[in-house]
Parts: sequence; structure tokens; C-alpha cells
Amino acid sequence: MSKGPISQFIEKYYLHFNSATVVDAAKAYEQQLQNGAKMMVTLAGAMSTAELGKIFAEMIRQDKVQIISCTGANLEEDIMNLVAHSHYERVPNYRDLTPQDEWDLLEKGLNRVTDTCIPEHEAFRRLQKHIHKIWKDAEDAGERYFPHEFMYKMLLSGCLEEYYEIDLKDSWMYAAAEKNLPIVVPGWEDSTMGNIFASYVIKGELKASTMKSGIEYMTFLADWYSKNSNKGVGFFQIGGGIAGLTTAYLLSKAGKKVIVVEDGFIGSGETGRTTAHLSNALDDRYYYLERVFGKEAAALSAESHTAAIDEIEKIIRTEHIDCAFRRVNGYLFLHPSDKEENLDKELEASQRAGISTTLLPKIPTMAGGSDQRCIVFPNQAQFHILQYLSGLAKAITSYGGIIYTEAHAENITKEGATVNGFAFRADYIVVATNSPVNDVLTMHTKQHAYRSYVIAGKIRKGLLPYALWWDTGDMDSKWVSQPYHYARLAEYDSENDLLIVGGEDHKTGQGDEESLLESARYDKLEAWTRERFPMLGDLSYRWSGQIIEPVDSLGFMGKNPGDENIYIITGDSGNGMTHATLGGMIICDSIRGIPNRWQELYSPSRITLSTAIDFLKEAGNMAAQYIDWIGSPDLQNIADLEPGQGGVLSHGIRKIAVYRDYDNKLSAFNAVCPHLGCIVQWNNDEKSFDCPCHGSRFTHEGKVVNGPSIENLRKIRIT
Ligand SMILES: Cc1cc2nc3c(=O)[nH]c(=O)nc-3n(C[C@H](O)[C@H](O)[C@H](O)COP(=O)(O)OP(=O)(O)OC[C@H]3O[C@@H](n4cnc5c(N)ncnc54)[C@H](O)[C@@H]3O)c2cc1C
Ligand code: FES
Repeated sequence: MSKGPISQFIEKYYLHFNSATVVDAAKAYEQQLQNGAKMMVTLAGAMSTAELGKIFAEMIRQDKVQIISCTGANLEEDIMNLVAHSHYERVPNYRDLTPQDEWDLLEKGLNRVTDTCIPEHEAFRRLQKHIHKIWKDAEDAGERYFPHEFMYKMLLSGCLEEYYEIDLKDSWMYAAAEKNLPIVVPGWEDSTMGNIFASYVIKGELKASTMKSGIEYMTFLADWYSKNSNKGVGFFQIGGGIAGLTTAYLLSKAGKKVIVVEDGFIGSGETGRTTAHLSNALDDRYYYLERVFGKEAAALSAESHTAAIDEIEKIIRTEHIDCAFRRVNGYLFLHPSDKEENLDKELEASQRAGISTTLLPKIPTMAGGSDQRCIVFPNQAQFHILQYLSGLAKAITSYGGIIYTEAHAENITKEGATVNGFAFRADYIVVATNSPVNDVLTMHTKQHAYRSYVIAGKIRKGLLPYALWWDTGDMDSKWVSQPYHYARLAEYDSENDLLIVGGEDHKTGQGDEESLLESARYDKLEAWTRERFPMLGDLSYRWSGQIIEPVDSLGFMGKNPGDENIYIITGDSGNGMTHATLGGMIICDSIRGIPNRWQELYSPSRITLSTAIDFLKEAGNMAAQYIDWIGSPDLQNIADLEPGQGGVLSHGIRKIAVYRDYDNKLSAFNAVCPHLGCIVQWNNDEKSFDCPCHGSRFTHEGKVVNGPSIENLRKIRIT
């Protein structure tokens, strides 16, 4: 269909920033309708004062709107404009009005909204007797209606004709009445007409029950949604990190209808904390993968991670995402606790897996690296993750997908989920919440949560090449997943680059077992970095994040065990960027019925017997956490708590998590993790309570931020 002049104009001139977003939104709207899906329009305040009806009424007539949600003021303002348009007054200099000027306007019965005064007094002089009669007639007939339905009756009865001051076709309420369009106005009671209705109730002339209530509006909306969402909602994505957005991107590009719901904002999970190495140098080593899964599987995993880096590059090029992507070398060298022979074993295994690795006699550009061998992994990559996510989100919406942020999904079943209290239905559900929130037990026995720490500081441009560096990890560590150091150089500004270095991991909620404060971990990381990169300037950033380590080292992506239409992506490990991308590729193929070479390798239902020892070690570690029920608390007395600190106290047999805020106010919670009952621990770095069993984390206000718990810590009143 050829476009009208307005579409042509905006497509030609609305090219960047907010205006480009207007075009994206318009295209998504168009696509939604072309797919036969329904469209809800929500009106913000004062929209009707802006004579919205001139455009909106036509949209309604052309069936571009199937339901409206708005305020009570929106409803009545359109009718006020219809019957009292000539009494509206514009006040262009409204910013200069004195209190006396404002008072004079009010005295004249004018209600100012920025530069426009609504003549409420005059309008209601014309409307009130008619609407009162309609309310009264309904009550006498024992009938009840919604506020907008009463207004529809008034408009369609023709009783207002004598007052019309604008062309009737510019009233969107009239157009909606003609179509009997559903409107949801939960706060109508607070509008002028709502106040007038209340005055009749106070005088005993009308019963409150004659008007259907805001709650009835909400239940009506829930019913409407359940009945109408079948065609409108196809694929439903929970989680807006790299896993969720990649899956949503691939599905929407393939023409599927996708909805993403993200609890926080895009990238607010672990993806926003990544150091963004894109690598096929898997951190659990190829010689280990060969032992656990066999040589063929090790080669498949190398192939899949290589393909994931290529896929990211392809997406960046196709969607023109400006995110500092570049190909770089990666250098793997021995941790002092590791054996020389392991480097040789990894070189051979990685080559057998199909990667063109080579051995160098020294680590390029690293101080002290001249007598240390390293393996070069060519064709690795790096990028700016948040810029990448932003590009993915933009692409998803341009392909007709919808993204809701601050939208919390719960009660996930094969039909869909409840999101912020509303039922969402979908044919397929992808749970990409890092730690799956749809499953209480199965997946959480196969993987374990670790915290990892990162520092970043400036280095003058040109002193280091852009590259990735990793050591092989501390073999003497008490943890099953040996912590390793990971470093890379990122572009920063015209004079400096940024050296980003991570490591010093420990199991979530168990940091104290190494008697190291979080601040000491950052110090250790800094010392490690300065020894190897002495040109590092002052530190500019530091942060920590959570990594989920699968006990057999490969991520889990595909159908959730026991489910046909629910998919998960989890077990990211230190290679979460590529694992998550692979997850998107595998799930997209599975939903589209396309065979995928890697599907079986990463199946969440797989059982890997050869890692039984590690499995038992982690299970033992988990069981030990329950001993905290009887163990001593980390806090002896509430008085010991400094502002901004938390801890866990014993009160009889109860454990209580307490936090003192910077105003000296104490909050207290049941310290029992709502997931499976471990006792949470205070994390002073993140100011959170962390569960040592499966990695659930809660803010100092008790709100869950990392699953598997889907509930907050239970608040306790203290006196
Ligand atoms: C410090 C650190 C450094 C790392 N460095 C690297 C690296 O260099 N290279 C690499 O490959 N990997 C790295 N990783 C791993 C990688 O960052 C992660 O594996 C990856 O970001 C995980 O992505 P995700 O989409 O699965 O999870 P997330 O980014 O956590 O996304 C999940 C989203 O789901 C949302 N959510 C949760 N529950 C709900 C709910 N009920 N309803 C709606 N939404 C919900 C969350 O708000 C969150 O935004 C690192 C990780 C950390 C912590
Ligand atoms: S996360 Fe499982 S018990 Fe807390």
C-alpha cells in the first residue's frame, strides 16, 4: 500500500534520536495490525486538551484501535471540547502568570492546563443535567454501567446536539461510542464527572453501586486480554539480558511475534556486569571437555562458540549496531598453581577441536611474561555490551516485537505467565532469567552460583594492544570452579584505553569462608593487575557480578526438562556471552522446526555421569550450608551494625537478617531463603543478602534480585 504524505515526510526526515523512534513505533504499530493482532491505546493526561480527537477519532473509525485505557479526565475533556470549544482560552504567556492571574482564571471558571484553560464550568452547565438523567434512568431500571458506557449513551442519544461547537467527526469519544469500543478507566472516580456523581451519592439521590467501579474495570481488562491475546501474542520472552534479547531478536527477525518482559531494564541483570570477552577459549579447558563428553563433543562445542562469535558479528553488521566490536587475539597462560603439561594438553585438545591455536614462548606485552609460555587463540572478539543490547532491542521492535521493562513474570506455565498481575498467553515461553525462575529444583542441582569481581582503570593509548588475557585458574582453590583472572583492553576516550580485569571468584554467599572481605578481593585483583600491567593508572571502576557454573561446564539451553513449549537458557559459565547467543540460536531453530547440530550437547535434560565427583563436592558444599541453621550468626548484637551495613542475628532458634540504613533505621527480615530454606549471608560490597545454596540474592530491602527464589525475604517487625 502506498504511504500517505505524513508517512512519507516522517520517513524522509525523522531519521535520528527521538524522531527515529517515532518512525520505529509507527512501523511496529502497522505491523501489529497487519498481523491481525489487537491494539490498545493508552492516553496520557491532558491529551484530550490537545484536541487529540482530530487524529484519534479517525484512527478509531479506521479500526486501528481495539481498546483504550485512559484517565477520567481524558473521557470528559473530549466531550467538553465538543460542547464548549469556543470557551477554551489559550494563555501563551502562562509561565509569567502571577498567583493573582491564576486566581482570576479560576474565578472565570477556567481550569488551566499549561497554556490551555478548560472551561469546566461552562461545559458542565451544559452536560450535567443530561448525564444525571442517564445515571438516574439506569438506576431506576436497576441497571449498572461503566462510566464510559454512560457517556456513550449520552452522546448517542443526541441530547447534546444543540451544544456542538466542533465538527462531530473530531470527537474521539463519539467515534468510540459509535463502535462501542471498550475503554478502561480505573481511576475515573477522581475526575470532575466522578466528583459530581459522588455528590449525588452523598445527597442520597444516586446509589454508588449504579456506577461500575475501578476494580470492575481491572477485572474486565483481564478478561478482555485473556480473550483477545491469542492472535496478538505469539512468543513470549522473559528476561532482557543477552540470552533473552538474542532469542527475541532471532525469532522476531524470522517473522515470529515476540514479547519480551524484563523485570528491571534492558541489561540490568548480569549482562550489564560482564567484561564482554567473546571467546571460544572455553574456561573449563578442551582437554577436560574431551574427558567428560568425548572428542567429538569437544569439537562441537568449539564449533558452536566460534559460530556464536560469528553470529554476533553478523547481527552487528546487519543491524548497523555501533558497539566497538573488534576481532582480537586471546592469550591463555598458566596460573602459578597449574602444571606446565596442562598448557600442552590444552594446546593439543584445542587443535583437535578445530581451533587454530598456536604456542608462544612468552606472553606478549605482559610484564613478567617473557619467560612464560602461552597459547594464542586467534579471532576472538570484544564489544561494548550495553551498546549491543540497545541495538538488539531496537532491531526487535523494528521487526514487530514488543519489549516491556519493569515487568515481572511469575506463575510460569505452558500457557504463559502472570506479568505484573496480568495474564500473558503464548505458544512458546523462553525463560532467559540467568537462573531459571520457572523451576524450583531440577536445574539448580546441576549448577552453582559464583561471585566474580572486576576492576577497571585507564591506560594511555598505544601502550597495550587490544587483546584478551586469561590465566588457567587457581588449582589450589577450595571451590569446585577454580577462579581465574581475565583481562582485556577496551577503547575509552581519545587519549586513553580502559584495562578491565576480573577474577577472585568465590561461591555466592560463602565469601567469608576464605576470611577475605570483598574490599580485599578488589585489592588482590589490583595487585595482580599492577604486577602484570604496571602502566595502569588510577582505578576508575569496580563492580562484581554473578556467574552460574554448570557442574559439567557446558551451558544449558533448550527445552526445560519435562516441558514441550517452555525453554530455558542458563549455566552461562564465564563464557556467557557466547553461551547465551548459542541459546538464542538453538531455541530459535527448535521453535521453527529446524534441526540444530548443537541442540543435544547443550540439552538441559542431559546427565553427565563422568562429573559425578564434582557434582557430589558441590552437593556436599550445599548441604553444609544448612548447618548455618545451628551455626553461629555473623552478628552478635544489633548495636554492632554501622549505618549501611547488614548481618544475620540469632533470636532463639530463628535467624534474622538485619540492615541499618544511613538514617539509622533498622529493617529486619526472616533470614531463611524463600527458595529452599538456606540462611542468607550479608554481602557488604553489593549491600545485599545472598543465599549460599543456589545463589538467590535480595536487596537490603529484602527484594529478590537473583533467582531461583521468586519471592522476597519475609519482613519482620522489630520494636
Ligand atoms: C563480572 C562478570 C564478568 C563476565 N565476563 C564475561 C566475559 O568476559 N565473557 C563472557 O562470555 N561472559 C562473561 N560473563 C558472563 C555473562 O555476562 C553472562 O553469562 C550473561 O550476561 C548472562 O546473560 P543472561 O541474559 O542469561 O542473564 P541476565 O543478563 O542476568 O538477564 C536475565 C534478565 O532476566 C530478568 N529477570 C529475572 N527474573 C525475571 C522475572 N521473573 N521476570 C522478568 N524478568 C526477569 C533480569 O532482570 C535480567 O535482566 C561475566 C559475568 C560476570 C558477572
Ligand atoms: S537459593 Fe536455594 S535455598 Fe536459597
